[in-house]
Amino acid sequence: MNIEKVMVIGAGQMGAGIAHVCAQAGFHVRLYDNQAKALEKGINTIEKLLQRSVDKQRMTEQEKNETFTRIQAVDTLWEGSKADLIIEAVIENMDVKTDIFQQLDHIAPTHAILASNTSSLPITEIAAATERPEQVIGMHFMNPVPVMKLVEIIRGLQTSDQTYQAIDQMAKALNKTPVVVNDFPGFVSNRILMPMINEAIYTLYEGIATVEDIDTSMKLGMNHPMGPLTLADFIGLDTCLYIMEVLHEGFADSKYRPCPLLRQYVKAGWLGKKSGRGFYTYTKLYTNA
Ligand code: CAA
Repeated sequence: MNIEKVMVIGAGQMGAGIAHVCAQAGFHVRLYDNQAKALEKGINTIEKLLQRSVDKQRMTEQEKNETFTRIQAVDTLWEGSKADLIIEAVIENMDVKTDIFQQLDHIAPTHAILASNTSSLPITEIAAATERPEQVIGMHFMNPVPVMKLVEIIRGLQTSDQTYQAIDQMAKALNKTPVVVNDFPGFVSNRILMPMINEAIYTLYEGIATVEDIDTSMKLGMNHPMGPLTLADFIGLDTCLYIMEVLHEGFADSKYRPCPLLRQYVKAGWLGKKSGRGFYTYTKLYTNA
């Protein structure tokens, strides 16, 4: 299948990043968000990052302009009627996602593939909300999308080989490295990453070491680019808790129980970098630029 026109649903950090890499790879992209402010912010972020690439001489001014003009901000899902591939990157809520997929199923051309950037929700269940489950697939990008090489491709129970092949090729065209994963809680990346982060939080909770020393242990001892508590703040503590709950419930195994300290921080509104406080405090509120 030939993918030329892509639509991205949700202009947050992940959606904007996905639109950015698609446009940079030569695809025509429509970026949709139901909130005008989010759409504007997403577009501004892409423009700033492209300008940064020009400033760093990784891209010419002309390439930047061509890339940027391939992205069109749109305010209606009906723009999906022209897409070959639609990638959804909205909040991690099954009701919201199934509602969007049902609408897209009616709007999108019959050949179009519907992909979700979900980090932990079952693709099989999202697919079941549509009349084309064989054309529904997970395409899980990592944050920050323009930098991270991995795309986890998640095959739902009914995803066809043809859909998988098209998305595998698409991920490679985006200059990413795809891995293929079956549809089980947390897939691969979050099944391994989140228990590590949760264990780091337990290590803090039990008074074994300070925030800084836990992070230094993993940064310098294991060569991780960020310590687990810095990374948790970067991802968002609400997201970390949510994914731990998906693992805990999905496997019904106490080894995935979320640390009480993580719960407490989320209840306090300490959500990490985006709220200005998590395991660290951030004087400048986080922006995705
Ligand atoms: N968007 C685009 N580019 C960004 C960026 C962003 N938000 N943040 C950093 N970059 C770029 C910078 O421009 C810089 O590029 P150049 O060197 O070419 O200028 C490069 O990344 C390195 O940035 P910095 O020098 O500022 O900082 P750094 O060396 O510490 O790298 C990092 C930053 C890439 C984020 C690095 O710390 C890292 O890899 N951290 C781990 C990130 C990670 O694990 N992500 C996965 C999270 S889990 C997930 O996404 C899945 C899920 O479902 C929860």
